[in-house]
Amino acid sequence: MFTLPQKDFRARTTCLGPACMQDLGSSHGEDLEGECSRKLDQKLPELRGVGDPAMISSDTSYLSSRGRMIKWFWDSAEEGYRTYHMDEYDEDKNPSGIINLGTSENKLCFDLLSWRLSQSDMQRVEPSLLQYADWRGHLFLREEVAKFLSFYCKSPVPLRPENVVVLNGGASLFSALATVLCEAGEAFLIPTPYYGAITQHVCLYGNIRLAYVYLDSEVTGLDTRPFQLTVEKLEMALREAHSEGVKVKGLILISPQNPLGDVYSPEELQEYLVFAKRHRLHVIVDEVYMLSVFEKSVGYRSVLSLERLPDPQRTHVMWATSKDFGMSGLRFDWINQVYLPENHARLKAAHTYVSEELRALGIPFLSRGAGFFIWVDLRKYLPKGTFEEEMLLWRCFLDNKVLLSFGKAFECKEPGWFRFVFSDQAHRLCLGMQRVRQVLAGKSQVAEDPRPSQSQEPSDQRR
Ligand SMILES: Cc1ncc(COP(=O)(O)O)c(C=O)c1O
Repeated sequence: MFTLPQKDFRARTTCLGPACMQDLGSSHGEDLEGECSRKLDQKLPELRGVGDPAMISSDTSYLSSRGRMIKWFWDSAEEGYRTYHMDEYDEDKNPSGIINLGTSENKLCFDLLSWRLSQSDMQRVEPSLLQYADWRGHLFLREEVAKFLSFYCKSPVPLRPENVVVLNGGASLFSALATVLCEAGEAFLIPTPYYGAITQHVCLYGNIRLAYVYLDSEVTGLDTRPFQLTVEKLEMALREAHSEGVKVKGLILISPQNPLGDVYSPEELQEYLVFAKRHRLHVIVDEVYMLSVFEKSVGYRSVLSLERLPDPQRTHVMWATSKDFGMSGLRFDWINQVYLPENHARLKAAHTYVSEELRALGIPFLSRGAGFFIWVDLRKYLPKGTFEEEMLLWRCFLDNKVLLSFGKAFECKEPGWFRFVFSDQAHRLCLGMQRVRQVLAGKSQVAEDPRPSQSQEPSDQRR
């Protein structure tokens, strides 16, 4: 995320959007998932490494100040990804290249998908597909999406195509929703840690702020698990935003959560929705990992499966093909009988492998049975427990040719958490974990004992 200095703005919990940007030269920013991170009062010229302006092509004079900010932001955010693309691991051609366990993609089912996509029923291109659609997307597509989501979300009443809008990816949906639901400078509440690129989509393009609901790994009060969202925490964050003069218009929820892999129970969902209704807030529920729940025991439920939505006019649900399929247009039969069972089995096997590796290393982690990632607690490798050390550790991993995502990218308030993506082929995972082990073997630990309260298996979680 990024934050820009404004003389008398005191908000600690909000991220300012471009509406507040003064000038690129005095601005500073924060990152995309797995990438750069900056302190609030740092100035661009002091930045080094990720986001270092010297690394960024200099001729931006043809851009608006907004364009320069967006460019600076993306250039900064993508250092890890750029480095990876310059030195990608390849078993034969570049075996010492970087293993990418940082980007949340599913690389396990390419064989199934490429076979399915090469079948003759996938090769038809009707003329209408090449012509302008309704601004909400082609009607036939919205009808298919409505049927698809009614079925997979287990919606008690069928969804209507007129309530479906199709855009080119989840990212665009965030920008569009921020734009149509908020005035410039208004805010959405969002629990942290969260998928960090939402910041760009709503702040850079949607021109609105994020007000953070900071969650802790420590289980306190009525919490039953680490990083638990409760209505009390939502109420507190809302009060804080109001006291800072920030108008909050909505709440963003992600389930299954990225990076935690948590899913919200129907009771929790209901409580959050009732909270939102009480304060006349919109709720965006991002369910892009809906079909990547590979452990039945987590009991995932889509918000659309609830009997009654407290405030349907202000409830917006997002789903995308990018995670669950990486593409669209598949037939249901094949999805249920071939793709989903095989994808879940592969996700589970990859997840088991990485979990066992982490356990053998004595590293605590949260393990939820959904999504493509494990939220890993490496706090014991940070002697002072700072975000600078977190960044240095991330760099050590990258220098040792394994790309991970660090917690600051998700606005985690505790330095030392990392997201490991496990949805990759066995040989790459194996090599990636070997490189992780090498880095950690060279580091001294602050505390010898793992903090057991943070390791939760999916089956434990709901017991
Ligand atoms: C929770 C979440 N929402 C949305 C997106 C973006 O989706 P898309 O790739 O379709 O833009 C991501 C991508 O990582 C994500 O993790």
